[in-house]
Amino acid sequence: MKKLTAIVIGLGSRGCVYSNAMKKLEDKFQIVGLADPLKAHLDTVKAWHNVPEENCYDSWEDILAQPKMADFAVIATQDKMHMPPALKAIEKGYNILLEKPVAPTPEECAAIANAAEKKGVKVLVCHVLRYTNFYGRVKQLLLDGAIGDVMSLIAVEAVGNVHQSHSFVRGNWHKTSDSAPMILAKCSHDTDIIQWLIDKPCKKVQSFGSLTHFCKENAPEGAPKRCIDGGCPVADTCVYNAKRIYVDDHSDANWYREVATAKFSIDGGVASDEETVAALKNNNYGMCVYQMDNDVVDHQVVNMEFEGGATASLTMNAFNKGGRYIRIFGTKGELYANMSDAEITLYTFADKQHHQVSVTAAEGGFVAGHGAGHGGGDIGIMGELYDYFSGEYDGYKAADISTSVKNHLLAFAAEESRLTGTVVDMDDFMKRYDLKNEFTK
Ligand SMILES: NC(=O)c1ccc[n+]([C@@H]2O[C@H](COP(=O)([O-])OP(=O)(O)OC[C@H]3O[C@@H](n4cnc5c(N)ncnc54)[C@H](O)[C@@H]3O)[C@@H](O)[C@H]2O)c1
Repeated sequence: MKKLTAIVIGLGSRGCVYSNAMKKLEDKFQIVGLADPLKAHLDTVKAWHNVPEENCYDSWEDILAQPKMADFAVIATQDKMHMPPALKAIEKGYNILLEKPVAPTPEECAAIANAAEKKGVKVLVCHVLRYTNFYGRVKQLLLDGAIGDVMSLIAVEAVGNVHQSHSFVRGNWHKTSDSAPMILAKCSHDTDIIQWLIDKPCKKVQSFGSLTHFCKENAPEGAPKRCIDGGCPVADTCVYNAKRIYVDDHSDANWYREVATAKFSIDGGVASDEETVAALKNNNYGMCVYQMDNDVVDHQVVNMEFEGGATASLTMNAFNKGGRYIRIFGTKGELYANMSDAEITLYTFADKQHHQVSVTAAEGGFVAGHGAGHGGGDIGIMGELYDYFSGEYDGYKAADISTSVKNHLLAFAAEESRLTGTVVDMDDFMKRYDLKNEFTK
């Protein structure tokens, strides 16, 4: 089997996830170059893959200034740092595995899609949920006509109250101007899955939502700015007490602690309690969730109408345990799918029976849950990528960049609708960015 060679740009959480996945699939992949200013992660991944020292760089600018050295580039820098390296990598002729969101504005997304098309390179977006066996099974059931024609769909992205507080109140995605609108940052997966399942272009989008809970008016009286400073009158009962989430929780995989201290298990061990307290005294993760400068929503709904009349609604909100579920209504039956439990139930009108549908485990044993590498999607995408980039692809999961961008545009349109109180006509919206509202795949 011919190995595909890769360079990885951005070795934070996501860059390490894909590097790790390529290590697990080492008969298919070889990483030959790396770029990140963080030396600790760079050294770890360099050792995993025996990457030559001379191919390890501090920045994407430096690695992409070299002659093309691999079949494809992984771009896993932060949201606002996707377009510049993507355009440079395209210019160099790299195929790209690009983290989502493609970029934080529709203009930048369209620029990447247009440049890739012009150069004739493939850009696969990390819409990893498509590559889970779970959503793959749902898609296959629809392709097989298990519920007839899809007439309507309800999708719920239950963000989880603590996850919301961590990523969207205290963390990297708490301000739209620093990252992207939350409906894009959190739900580009969902708009991608919805348009993929309905398999028709969306024609109209309408959305409502706001930030109502994680704001200053709800700060308990007398609460200090930082939980970690002590003296908070509700410290014993507040579920967002930073000490409880980041210091007292000693569960094996405390990803929250890793992110809050920027010290990951791959660095040779997670931060101690003392190191964690010290970090929380200086960064946003130690702040009271009611006294941050966050401005992204904590709940939002999106209504969509598709060509032919099928409708969909997506609800994203913070006030739950967390997880994703979807209910799809067809002319011959109904399908309920809960990703957290890898549960798919089919009800068919013909026999008036419920049928449990099994989901096979992905490589690594993953069937469900976000903690499990996005339910197997993080490793699943690498398997499909191999065939897609090798030019031997006959699967139904991988989408070209133009399809991914069109699916992103649903989220941008939702944000426009939420902010302006209008219904967005998707044909007109796409035209603004020189995109046609039709499907290619
Ligand atoms: N597919 C998904 O489900 C999913 C999940 C989480 C995050 N994301 C997205 O993945 C991307 C990365 O997120 P993350 O959590 O890994 O972020 P991160 O902050 O952990 O990693 C970003 C990395 O980029 C590095 N970097 C900064 N400047 C650089 C430069 N000039 N050249 C090279 N590297 C540079 C940083 O040092 C850091 O290691 C974001 O766009 C995020 O929204 C996607």
